[in-house]
Amino acid sequence: MKVMAFNGSARKDGNTAILIRTVFSELEKEGIETELFQLAGKKIRGCIACYKCMKNKDRRCSVKKDVLNECIEKMETADGIILGSPTYFADVSAEMKALIDRAGFVARANDDMFRRKVGAAVVAMRRGGAIHAFDTINHLFFISQMIIPASTYWNMGIGRDIGAVEQDEEGLLTMRVLGQNMAWLLKKLH
Ligand SMILES: Cc1cc2nc3c(=O)[nH]c(=O)nc-3n(C[C@H](O)[C@H](O)[C@H](O)COP(=O)(O)O)c2cc1C
Repeated sequence: MKVMAFNGSARKDGNTAILIRTVFSELEKEGIETELFQLAGKKIRGCIACYKCMKNKDRRCSVKKDVLNECIEKMETADGIILGSPTYFADVSAEMKALIDRAGFVARANDDMFRRKVGAAVVAMRRGGAIHAFDTINHLFFISQMIIPASTYWNMGIGRDIGAVEQDEEGLLTMRVLGQNMAWLLKKLH
C-alpha cells in the first residue's frame, strides 16, 4: 500500500513538510510506502475552465505544460492521499488550490477516480485560519467520495519559522495519531 503526499507550501521542507513526515513515520511503521511531492518552485497554475476534461475523459488535465498531470498520475496509483498546506490568509496556498481545482475536476470527469481512496488534510499555521484551510482540503475529499480518518484534534500544527512546528507537541501528537488511524483504515480497506 502506498500513501502519496503533496506539500502545497512555497517553502520546501518547511513546517508543512515536517507535519507530513510525522504522519509518514507512523505509516511506515505499519509497512505502508510513502512519497512526498513538494510543489515549491514547481510550475503549477489554476484551472482555466476549458471543460476539456469533461469531454475527453482521459483521466488527465488538457493543460499539459506544468506538473499537474504528474500529480494526478501519482494520486491515481496511491491508496491514500495526504494534501498538506500552510495557511495563507486563512486558506490553502495558491499551489494547493490549483491542485485541488484541477485534480478534483479531472477526477469528477472520470467517474470519481479518487473514490474510496483514503484522504487526509494536514495544515501548518502561525496563528489563525488553519481550520478554514483544513475545510478547503476536506471539501475535495468529500465531493470525491474519499474516506477520511480522524485524529485527536483537527490536523494542524503551529509555527512560523521553518522547524517551529517541532515545538508544538499537541500538533505533532495529532499527526502521529492521524498516521496510526490512516494506517488502520487502509489495512481495513485492503
Ligand atoms: C503569504 C502568507 C500568508 C500567511 N497567512 C497566514 C494566516 O492567515 N494565518 C496564519 O496563522 N499564518 C499565516 N502565514 C504563516 C504560515 O502559515 C506559517 O509560517 C506556516 O508555518 C508556513 O508553513 P511552511 O513552512 O510549510 O511554509 C502566512 C504566511 C505567508 C507566506
